[in-house]
Amino acid sequence: MPETEDWIDIGAAVELSKQPLQQVRAGNRDFAVSFKDGQFGVIANGCNHVGGPLGGGRLDGEYVTCPWHGWKFQRCTGLGEPGFEEDAVPSYPVKVERSRVWINLAAATRRSRKPHDPHPLAREPRREPGPLRVAGISTTVMDLNLPRFSGSDHLLECALKSAAEHGAETKLIRLNELKFRPCEGYYSKSARACTWPCSITEMDKADEMDRVYEAFVHWADAVIVASPIRWGAASSLYFKMAERLNCVQNAVTINNRVLKQQKKVDMTDTPDAGVLPAATDLDSIITRALAERGDGESGTGAKNSPAATASDASASEPAQVAPSGDPSPAAEPASPMQPIEPPARWTPDKKAAFATWPRDVQETVVARNGELEADYTRKTQEAADLRRTAEPLLKAIKPFEAYLNELAPIIGQTPDTMIASLLGVEYQLRKGDPHSYSLCPFNVSQ
Ligand code: FES
Repeated sequence: MPETEDWIDIGAAVELSKQPLQQVRAGNRDFAVSFKDGQFGVIANGCNHVGGPLGGGRLDGEYVTCPWHGWKFQRCTGLGEPGFEEDAVPSYPVKVERSRVWINLAAATRRSRKPHDPHPLAREPRREPGPLRVAGISTTVMDLNLPRFSGSDHLLECALKSAAEHGAETKLIRLNELKFRPCEGYYSKSARACTWPCSITEMDKADEMDRVYEAFVHWADAVIVASPIRWGAASSLYFKMAERLNCVQNAVTINNRVLKQQKKVDMTDTPDAGVLPAATDLDSIITRALAERGDGESGTGAKNSPAATASDASASEPAQVAPSGDPSPAAEPASPMQPIEPPARWTPDKKAAFATWPRDVQETVVARNGELEADYTRKTQEAADLRRTAEPLLKAIKPFEAYLNELAPIIGQTPDTMIASLLGVEYQLRKGDPHSYSLCPFNVSQ
């Protein structure tokens, strides 16, 4: 039978009957083709939710289950599962003639969508009027029935207290008290499968990560994340939260939608002993040091930090007593301490504020700023190196551009993203760092 405008040949019946479900491309379109109990079913490949490839899913009785988030569609009619029939994807009449499978494009049913109320988090982020808002996120883990002192929580509480004293509205979220699922790696299926709001949040009403999203995206102007440091790394809850935040960044990647703008995220941490602060960011050092001074506490915090101890000691050292009989003055006049210069790149306002800070805070800030600048220089050099070495690779990839364009709709990545990933893998391999090596198979699989 010759192919007409209406009926198109999508493949050999014997081949298509070998798998219960598969994705087939014909006439420039993709179809989800199923075969069960001797009967073919053909529906459109694009899922109604966010376009997952239905043919790449699995057959669950008479329903095709989308591989991305599990929406279901009847394999022959395209209707949604019971209760969601209005959520239908196009289905096509099918016939088998002369050992070939044919579908009628002209007689396809229409796609329809059941109205779904958008998740409250999906609203446009808008700064409501009001004072500065600071959210504190505690990531420490402990048995709620056997609570203990937590150094990082203590620092966080000091910071929030200080913010409140400066007129800010504050909110404390303890991850330890929330029930939320770990990230399930939708991004690994496809960048477009990692949605905003998070797919888990949308599907699971019991998941309490929505509190954190609400604070990060909609409520706070500044977020302070506090974590204990165990075995040289932040707490496991910190990473569990950070993985779930991928959807916030990914909104930029897939939809060019910036959810978090002009917000400050800060991190405080404490080593295992949980007493001496080892801050990782300038502002948290400042906030904490000033806050603790304001509290008049001793025994924890900036006054016990090595820098503070050193400068406090030199300021209060007793004057040297001259040997008896020596007519010279009893002590050398103390040499006046040189003022500490603020980092050169700072704005005049910030420099003026710096001049008002206690000396030990200034010392700590200057030392940390030096580390950050050195790190920035190193990363800039690495980026320049990467750009230089990428030239020949980009030339080598050029002939495969058409192939990457074909691949793009299948794996849900643009050719540019694929090329960037390949360059990253090549760079990891060339750098020779064992940790980077170990990441390569993972990155290639992405
Ligand atoms: S369930 Fe199909 S794309 Fe989400």
